[in-house]
Amino acid sequence: MPVHTISPEELKGALAGTGEQQIRDWCAALEAGGVLYFPQTPVRIPPADLDVLLGQQQTGSRLHKNIAYKPHRDELTGVDAKSSPGAVVEQVHDIMRRYSKSVEGFLAEFLAPYQERWVLDYASYRPLEEQGRDLPVRRRNDLLHTDAFPTRPTRGWRILRFFHNIHPTRTRDWVTGDPFGKVVGKFTSGKLPLPRPDSALTKVGKGLAKATGLAALVPQWKRTPYDEFMMQLHNAMKEDDGFQGVCTKEYFQFAPGSSWMVYTETVPHAVLAGQYALEQTFLVDPRAMVTPESAPVRVLEKMAGARLV
Ligand SMILES: [Fe+2]
Repeated sequence: MPVHTISPEELKGALAGTGEQQIRDWCAALEAGGVLYFPQTPVRIPPADLDVLLGQQQTGSRLHKNIAYKPHRDELTGVDAKSSPGAVVEQVHDIMRRYSKSVEGFLAEFLAPYQERWVLDYASYRPLEEQGRDLPVRRRNDLLHTDAFPTRPTRGWRILRFFHNIHPTRTRDWVTGDPFGKVVGKFTSGKLPLPRPDSALTKVGKGLAKATGLAALVPQWKRTPYDEFMMQLHNAMKEDDGFQGVCTKEYFQFAPGSSWMVYTETVPHAVLAGQYALEQTFLVDPRAMVTPESAPVRVLEKMAGARLV
């Protein structure tokens, strides 16, 4: 995993107006499977907000699992409403709303080459220790995988994630794997078939689902062949012990107070240890890329010799 470290001085210089080419280069590095690493996060969180986020977990596991913030509905989920006083839920809601807006503001400037051809997706707060979590295989974060959303197909749009390690003293430990094309090649030469345009059977199923009104309820019928493949790839990677054992691994520790961003639908990644991380997701139009041919939908369409979305 090439990690491109961006110091506060470099960032300031690039954003000052003279760094247009530098920002395009960083976007290209990101699109090629690199990680952009900010040792000092460019999205500052007020100390009082940090205290609330860190304090809840320390004083009784009130925030019992990942907390999600859905900006388009201004909705917060995942806070244990039974054991958390209403005022705390409100406080966390306000903090997540502010955080989401701050990241959006920063990236509107930083990702200028994309000209805002992206959609602000969910933000999350991950207060649990990642090491030793007891989860079913497909939900494990410590196994290398590429991201795909089971209920929200992206139809070829890219999944860009901005992270922030808010732990005051501990690193967040990641491992990444081989580049996307290489990993896909490994799986498609084995048990995972390359994606194909809709089969006749799927078309019949979709027609039926549409006619009966089920299409709106069943996520699979909203998926394109691209989405189907990306979901299968996510599962196949996590379920393949041989792959997990022998694939190339690169380790990186993200410092307390740092941020990083990466296209997680193409960079195989896993979290080995760490606690207290914030994250904001964006779905980015593949046509907005500085290097459009690097988008996974283009890579797969080239391999399959067919349109997949
Ligand atoms: Fe992931």
